[in-house]
Amino acid sequence: MEKLIIHGGKRLRGRIRVSGSKNAALPILLSAILVDGPVRYLNVPRLRDINTANRLLDILGCPAAFEAPASDASEYDPGGHTVRAEVQELKPEAPYDLVKTMRASVLVLGPLLARLGLAKVALPGGCAIGARPVELHLKALERMGAEFKLDSGYIIGRCKKLHGADISFDFPTVGGTENLLMAASLADGETILRNAAREPEVSDLAHFLNACGARISGIGSDTLYIEGVDKLSGCSYLIMPDRIEAGTFMAAAAITGGELELESCPSESLSKVIDKMEDMGARFKIAESDTDHSFVDGRPHSVTVSMDGPLKSSDISTAPYPGFPTDMQAQFMAMMSLARGSGTVEENIFENRFMHVPELNRMGADIRLSGSRAVVHGVKKLTGAPVMASDLRASASLVLAGLAAKGETHVQRIYHLDRGYERIENKLRAVGAEIVRARDDS
Ligand code: EPZ
Repeated sequence: MEKLIIHGGKRLRGRIRVSGSKNAALPILLSAILVDGPVRYLNVPRLRDINTANRLLDILGCPAAFEAPASDASEYDPGGHTVRAEVQELKPEAPYDLVKTMRASVLVLGPLLARLGLAKVALPGGCAIGARPVELHLKALERMGAEFKLDSGYIIGRCKKLHGADISFDFPTVGGTENLLMAASLADGETILRNAAREPEVSDLAHFLNACGARISGIGSDTLYIEGVDKLSGCSYLIMPDRIEAGTFMAAAAITGGELELESCPSESLSKVIDKMEDMGARFKIAESDTDHSFVDGRPHSVTVSMDGPLKSSDISTAPYPGFPTDMQAQFMAMMSLARGSGTVEENIFENRFMHVPELNRMGADIRLSGSRAVVHGVKKLTGAPVMASDLRASASLVLAGLAAKGETHVQRIYHLDRGYERIENKLRAVGAEIVRARDDS
């Protein structure tokens, strides 16, 4: 196992390039199953979950791999962030030992049914943050003609040919919307998805599918219209930047009282996060940037974050997009721990997404939990301590706390962190953090 050792108290200053979005890249990579011919994905982040997705595609008969080994150059290496995938001979089974490490594997259900009329996908277990059921995915696919049975922990789905349907989700599920977008792209007739998720990553998937010849409209709204086509053809596609990685580095600037320029920063999709950080005393400068590889929607774009005085507390309540993102809740909790005053955090998306709280309290935070609500009383300082990561965003929260704490923090089990953050210690060290990765024999 590995850990991060952080000596806190340094104000971060400098420029960080935001990587491609994990939560856009995963469904977009897996939708290669739908496509005839090679696909080239640009700006793919080098993450554990992406390696898992490439392995899953290999197993399913659609080999996928990064085009060139990532060079160790500190500069962005386009070759090392390009993935090429192409369907050879599709197979229907996504095995448990792989699905259990990445529940987003369930996103192969729609594409396999659309291409093969058969899918055998291990039921994704729950994870640290909740049970994570997929009944909304299955109910919607049944409306399109699929039949499912559960056998020895596997979902087995069959269909003759998926047909269009008018579907309304009980909840705007991100994964459910993505599975149905992919399935409907090759179905007979028109599908309407109502109460669909509006997350930018869902829109990025829809844009990719359209680039391959799909006919999707209503992108970005809560009602998506998909006119099924006979086939999708390969193309090259640029993955959008990661808004949650960007938000995490914004929080790093704020919690250390530093100033960071974030290149390729999707500020439009972070408006609720930016508003809340401004309430807490952060200052933002959004500028066109001159570097060639920073972009958002094709336009050069950078955001500079700094603090205008001490952190002031605020209240957050997580909601589906365009509400405040649940994936930024833990990072905000770390900031609020050191803010003046008290604030409340309502977690409305996942039933167990407060695993970072006991660890933050061990560092001297004063956070009290009651069901889906946390009350954070700001304290003057946090003290470094050995802490345990439990899930991806909880790990990020502990790193942020360690950057601001007095003394040394050891964040253990950072394989959680590596799922969603590309070389985070290198990026933070480059802007002044005292942070190293070390073996953890504890
Ligand atoms: C995606 O998960 C993201 N993962 C999550 O990011 C993110 O937190 C979440 O959307 C919400 O924004 C990826 O994109 C790979 P949901 P997903 O389906 O698709 C319940 C991260 O840190 N639900 O919108 O699983 C579910 O249990 C990860 O990057 C059902 O009850 O999110 C959860 O409580 C964590 N039944 C809520 O809805 C269903 O059939 C949101 O789930 C589907 C979902």
